[in-house]
This record gives sequence, structure tokens and C-alpha cells, in this order.
Amino acid sequence: MKRETILVLDFGGQYTQLIARRIRELNVYSEIVDHSITPKEILARNAKGIIFSGGPHSVYDKGAFLSDPALLDIQVPILGICYGMQVITHQLAGEVLGAERREYGPATIELEKDPLFRDLGSQMDVWMNHADRIEKLPSGFRSIAGTSNSPIAAMRNKSGSIYGLQFHPEVVHTPRGKEILRNFVFEVCGCTADWTPASFIEETEVMIREKVKKGKILCALSGGVDSTVMAFLLKRGAGEALAPVFIDNGLLRWNEGEQVYNRLRAAGLDVRYYDASDFFLSKLEGVENPEEKRKAIGRAFVEIFERIASETPGLHYLAQGTLYPDVIESGGYRGTAQVIKTHHNLIDMIRTMKLELIEPFREIFKDEVRRIGAELGITQEILHRQPFPGPGLAVRCLGPVTKERLDLLRKADAVVKEEIVTAGLYRKIWQSFAVLLPIRSVGIMGDNRTYSNVVALRAVNSQDGMTADWARIPYDVLASISSRIVNEIPGINRVVYDITSKPPGTIEWE
Ligand code: XMP
Repeated sequence: MKRETILVLDFGGQYTQLIARRIRELNVYSEIVDHSITPKEILARNAKGIIFSGGPHSVYDKGAFLSDPALLDIQVPILGICYGMQVITHQLAGEVLGAERREYGPATIELEKDPLFRDLGSQMDVWMNHADRIEKLPSGFRSIAGTSNSPIAAMRNKSGSIYGLQFHPEVVHTPRGKEILRNFVFEVCGCTADWTPASFIEETEVMIREKVKKGKILCALSGGVDSTVMAFLLKRGAGEALAPVFIDNGLLRWNEGEQVYNRLRAAGLDVRYYDASDFFLSKLEGVENPEEKRKAIGRAFVEIFERIASETPGLHYLAQGTLYPDVIESGGYRGTAQVIKTHHNLIDMIRTMKLELIEPFREIFKDEVRRIGAELGITQEILHRQPFPGPGLAVRCLGPVTKERLDLLRKADAVVKEEIVTAGLYRKIWQSFAVLLPIRSVGIMGDNRTYSNVVALRAVNSQDGMTADWARIPYDVLASISSRIVNEIPGINRVVYDITSKPPGTIEWE
């Protein structure tokens, strides 16, 4: 049986992902697709409803993103948000007016009685962010919300199968926006909330039981949330056919290899330790360019996977913890997004391996992985580890990656973690870590001049890693991190704090 789906058509809006996440929070599966999708493709995906996202264009712009007008004729309910509403209006021969001034910020609108506004009363606070607005409704449509300035803040057609909103229900600044999305999904589209961690676990189990008839699954673990949850998830369907391996690539944090290995075994996973640290370091010799580092590591992983496969009879699959944002960011559904960083698990070589790929989280967001992990009974300690990039410390060791420099970084990183944990900040912060810079600076230690390495401290708050802001860590915590690093680690004489948000910075330095 195919699960009920709400498709979000991406017109390039900045909140597109947020819409899909909000729908999923209602336990209804939602997927983002390109705005050029055809009616046939929509029906093939068991779509119960369609949402047109916002977008940066005006419908009259040359090259403005428009959808197939035939979508408006299929019998699947549609909700257009902001630019999405203007697309509907434009395609049904209404009129969109180019406004000189952008309406940006909060507004209070008056609501008519309508299934879309069920239980919302007669007024609500909303967040506006648009330039163009609807001047004339398409025939058969009427306004169902507005203000004296902006008489068409929401519209619907006669049968109630097509709606449009001028404001953004998906953002937190529209406090009751989620209720509008809930009404759309349940009252208008008739969905049944069948997307839960438990249903996902069951579906995956059935799928894996079928797959392992062909052979065993190699499951490479990093100790991070995604691969750990994936291993426990796959174990349910695969049982003995799961071959979990922890690959030590020499790019891990202080004592991390041992800790992770012991923790996984204690949790009941029969994991094998594979020491490939010398191999990875040899592949990184003389490599300083960030993209080259990432590619070298990706290739080294593939070589190790192939080596393990040749030593393990009956291996047919390789499981990877690729997440939905990775697929979206790497242009997986449209192929036009620019590559900012090559993720180690998305290099082309992995797709040409003899092992067939299984990626159970390709459609899953990180917070959902945690919910699935909790449902599987995985400990909070594992589920709430801060994210750690696949290429490990290599992308935090700017310049040459050598054992000596990695050891220096590991020591600094261990101090950061200890202090952040002691201050009770570890779980409040998305990520906090040290970066070893490829420069040296002058300092004074006792009576002596020093000329040593500089460490940057990076700590950010984020919802999903896609955008982030630097964490306002209390000064006294920064002070103890800094003084401990320069006092306890010979070879480092200066600590700086990175105060760049993402964008324009990224979280990792490489
Ligand atoms: P950036 O640096 O792009 O990172 O802002 C966003 C989030 O992704 C993590 N990251 C990675 N995770 N493989 C991973 O599994 C990678 O190659 C990779 N690169 C970055 C990063 O730590 C942050 O949480």
C-alpha cells in the first residue's frame, strides 16, 4: 500500500522545506518535488493534496517558475502559499498586481467561516512577505480572509478544492499557522495521519526482509545518530544478514573509536572494528584543498567497503544514512542546486560500486531520525550526540592533515567538549568544536616568546544544519575553554571565536 502524500511543489521559496516538515509533524508524509511535475506523476505518487510553495519571482517575470496548468484540473486539492497563490490566480485568468512596496511583517486578518479556518475564530495574526498581490480573483473564487488594506489575504474556489493564502502559515511568526495546515491536510484533503515512526519502522522491516533474500547488508557505522539508528532499524528486518562495521579512519575525536565501539556492543550490536587509519592518512598526504580532501576520503571509504566486501562472502548491499536534506541540497530532485560541499557518501563512485545501495533515510529529516531512534529504544546519549561530519577532523584541520596536527586538534576538541558539557550546554547547542588553523601566531608563555598554532572555536545553534547562527556562549565558558587550551596543550598559543552565521558562512570550515 502506498502511503498518503502531500506534495510540496517547489517554486524556489525559502520556506519550502519548512512546509514539508510542518506537514510531517502532523504525521502525514510530505515530499518536495519540482514545480514542473506533471499531473500523471502526481497521481502516481498517491498525492492526497498539493501545496504550491512561495517563490522569489513575480508571475510576470521572464522565466518565472510556473507549473503545468493542467494540475488545476485534476481532482486533488491544492493550497497555494504566497507566490503559489499568485501562480494559481495567473493561470486561471485572475489578475496579479505588481506592487511597488513589499508587505513584510506581521498583520492581523479577519477570517470568514471556512473548513480551512476551522476552530480559528474570526481573527488571526499572520506573517506577510510578498510584493505582488491579487487584484482580481479568478472566476468562481471568493476571498475568505482579508484586512482593510489587503482585502484578499486568502481565497478559495466554489467547490473548496483550491485554496490560496497570501501569508505564510508555515513560519513560527504565524502562531496558529500550523492549524491552517492541519485543516488543509485533514479537513480538505482527508488524510489519516498514517506517517509515524512506528509505521516507518514496520514498512522498512518488511522491505528489508524482502531485500535480504538477495544477500547480506554491509552497514558502516560512525557512531553518529544516523548510522546508529539505521543499524538498529535494519537489524529488525535483516537479523543475522546485517554486517555492522565500525571503520576507524583516523579522523575521529579523542578516544572516540574505542568509546563508540564499546557503546554499540553494549547496546547489542555485533559490530566489527576495522582499523583503516593508516590507509586514510596515506590518502590524505599532501592534500590541502577542501574538496580534494572530501573526495579523497569518499574514495578511501569506497575502497575499504570493497575490501570488506571481498573478505565477506554473501554481501550484496551497502547501507548508507543519507538524509533528505542531503538529497535536496545535492540537487537530488531537480539537479540544479549548486554543490557547496561534496558529502563523503554522495560521490559518484559509490553509485558504481558492485554493492547495491540501501538508503532508508533518503526521505527523512534529522529530527525524524531521532524520533525513529527513540521508538527503537535507542538511548538518549546516542540520540542526542552533536552531529559530526563524515570526513571527520580532516575538514577541521585546515591545511595539511597529519597525525601530529590531528592529535593537536583532538586535544583541543576534547577540552571544548568537556567545558561545554560541564556548562550544561552540550544538548542546547547544535554543534560545538575546535578547528585547527593553518597559521601560527606570536605569544608569550612565562618569559618566553612562542610562535605556535591557532585554534578557532565554532559553536552554532540550528534546527537542521541548513541555516545556523553562532551560539552566544557565556564569556566565562569561553574564557575557561581558551585558558585551558593554551595552558594544557603545548603547540597552541591562541584561541579565537568564530562569529559567522550560516549563510554566509558554513558550519564546518571546509
Ligand atoms: P556545513 O558545513 O555544510 O554543514 O554548514 C552542515 C551540517 O552537515 C555536517 N556535514 C557533514 N555531514 N558528511 C556528513 O555526514 C559530510 O561530508 C558533511 N559535511 C558537513 C556538518 O557537521 C553540519 O552539521
